[in-house]
Amino acid sequence: MHTIIITGAGSGIGSAAAVALSRLPSIRVVLIGRRREPLEETAAKCEGEAIVHDQDVADREAWKAFLGSEELGLAAFPLVGVFANAGVGGPNRFADGEGDRWEEIIRTNLTGTYVTVESCKPYLDAAASIGPRHVVVTSSVLARFGVPGQAAYVASKTGLLGLVRSWATEWSDSGVLVNAICPGWVETEMARNSIQAMADQYGRSYEEELGVQSQLLPTGRISQPEEVAELVVWLMSGAQRSMTGQGIDINNGSYMV
Ligand SMILES: NC(=O)c1ccc[n+]([C@@H]2O[C@H](COP(=O)([O-])OP(=O)(O)OC[C@H]3O[C@@H](n4cnc5c(N)ncnc54)[C@H](OP(=O)(O)O)[C@@H]3O)[C@@H](O)[C@H]2O)c1
Repeated sequence: MHTIIITGAGSGIGSAAAVALSRLPSIRVVLIGRRREPLEETAAKCEGEAIVHDQDVADREAWKAFLGSEELGLAAFPLVGVFANAGVGGPNRFADGEGDRWEEIIRTNLTGTYVTVESCKPYLDAAASIGPRHVVVTSSVLARFGVPGQAAYVASKTGLLGLVRSWATEWSDSGVLVNAICPGWVETEMARNSIQAMADQYGRSYEEELGVQSQLLPTGRISQPEEVAELVVWLMSGAQRSMTGQGIDINNGSYMV
């Protein structure tokens, strides 16, 4: 039995990915987030053993204690994958002074991912005899272009692509492959909050705004978390041996390379 860690596993993309990854043979999933209750709800949908652990992803000491703990038992169940997915969205506004969310957003999305993956790396190294091990990071289509009012989010998600490229150059020869996914709109709580905020701004209902945003996309629709989860499963599978350092777009055609 091997272990895959998923952060932000209590909701949205992380929850769907945890359920999908739990169906892989000989895998147990470890679900990380700050709130225990949603993690327990995800665990109930997983197949086999699912360990729940509540912590902040940017907390280095918490990672150190948890990863080395007997409760987790990585010596017996080696770590073969990390899906560093936790994040926060929404605007930041420098002009608001005290209301500026720059530090919160950068701390969670960029520093939190850095701390997650660096903390896990020694345990991925310890599993070298198993074969390729995978790190997948959740970036965003907003690593591809800017949007007004979201400089912190855009900077955090763009920074993740730099992190992934750096790790890929450092770690590929030791068999750890590192990639980012760059989703466009995915129907989760985070996206619903953003769509509702736009609906309020333009005096539309949620459904009307969802329709407007969907029609801007070449496919005319936004993604469901389960679709993104299937991409994550493939990126973490034994079939994936050749991709590293990439930002993989899954965005209904909103950005094309
Ligand atoms: N939905 C979209 O349209 C979209 C598009 C592109 C990229 N993304 C990215 O996809 C990822 C998942 O988001 P989602 O759409 O699935 O939204 P979501 O349902 O809000 O999920 C975010 C998860 O991250 C966890 N989290 C936030 N801060 C944390 C922290 N400091 N420590 C530990 N866990 C933390 C949250 O749980 P707790 O609050 O319990 O900690 C939550 O479960 C994010 O990185 C987001 O930026 C989303």
